[in-house]
Amino acid sequence: MALLITGGAGYIGSHTVVELLEAGQEVIVLDNLANSSRASLQRVAQITGREPQLIEGDVRDARLLDRLFAEHPVEAVVHFAGLKAVGESVRHPLDYYDNNVGGSLALCQAMARAGVRRLAFSSSATVYGAPADMPIPETCPIGIPTNPYGQSKRMVEDMLNDLVASDPRWSIALLRYFNPVGAHPSGLIGEDPDGIPNNLLPYITQVAVGRLERLAVFGDDYPTIDGTGVRDYIHVVDLARGHLAALGFLSTHPGIHAWNLGTGTGYSVLQIIEAFERASGRPVPYTIAPRRPGDVAQCWSDPAKAMRELGWRATLGLDRMMEDAWRWQSGNPAGYAEAD
Ligand code: NAD
Ligand code: UD1
Repeated sequence: MALLITGGAGYIGSHTVVELLEAGQEVIVLDNLANSSRASLQRVAQITGREPQLIEGDVRDARLLDRLFAEHPVEAVVHFAGLKAVGESVRHPLDYYDNNVGGSLALCQAMARAGVRRLAFSSSATVYGAPADMPIPETCPIGIPTNPYGQSKRMVEDMLNDLVASDPRWSIALLRYFNPVGAHPSGLIGEDPDGIPNNLLPYITQVAVGRLERLAVFGDDYPTIDGTGVRDYIHVVDLARGHLAALGFLSTHPGIHAWNLGTGTGYSVLQIIEAFERASGRPVPYTIAPRRPGDVAQCWSDPAKAMRELGWRATLGLDRMMEDAWRWQSGNPAGYAEAD
């Protein structure tokens, strides 16, 4: 039996594929390479000694999905495929609803036709909106995301809840990621954003490697430890391992299950800069800029439910996140571009 990994050539997908292959699983990747390249899977092969099969195509393509499920004995699906740039989602909302909601709908319909009913979905802490109290447990009511990207995650969660309510044979995981950072310790795979990064860590590493001049710190007047925004950064390898734990649980527990995948600890932007400088030995010049619209002051998880039910918790600390992010960026200053 095999696992279908949609979006498996991307940042989190490629790290999860490594962990799955190393655990002896058969993996098929479906990716349209809209935000990735074959190079990541070639690097996965370098790390694991096994190259996963790549089917280049779109998760919205119903005919392709029917053929895929007919030709391969798929037992479960991990659904990473989607668009993830918050600002772009505000400018092009229909693309986000089409890809993220339409893609998830087409996938579930094809899974239903094929009788494959086990699914792990990449959700996000963004579905909680801006709760007043930290840390955030899964029992926190779903909030109102401030942008179409967040809305698309929330809508898919709603759709999956309705699906399980209608047919209890499904087993579905809503994996709510906090802030994934870092890279595989080999330095062979990592985050390779297209254009100027939106997120903090890739921006910092690109400043350190000389691709960007200086970081803008968005706001220093939040009610936090030093006035800058606080987030729950989680090593992408820990996050990838969370998917294996969730898949194991789903195989014996039908129903729908939400888990926070975070560390339970928040760090401020200035603490991240300091930790990165320590790990890399490089200075990160920065200026204080106005707050970014839509940002919350603080956001960190209560990860106890995942520990209790999955036996999973994050084990790689802040220093490892920074060291591994730097090993990837310094070894691949232009990301995968050099490998193409
Ligand atoms: P990524 O862009 O690196 O990976 C997504 C992959 O999906 C890419 O390889 C892309 O080519 C592919 N893809 C996009 N649309 C597709 C389609 N219609 N058909 C087939 N393939 C398609 O992003 P990532 O950071 O690895 O994120 C993976 C998932 O996790 C996404 O759903 C994202 O929304 C979610 N997520 C990410 C973060 C984060 O900070 N990175 C946080 C929370 C949730
Ligand atoms: C953002 C998205 C969130 C998405 C997540 C992962 C917003 C409002 N939220 O989360 O929906 O799930 O990315 O893709 O965009 N920062 C700077 N300077 C920078 C970049 C970031 O100071 O150049 C600060 C931010 O203000 C924030 C922290 O760094 O306090 C982390 O930002 P980022 O990495 O973009 O993640 P989130 O905002 O948490």
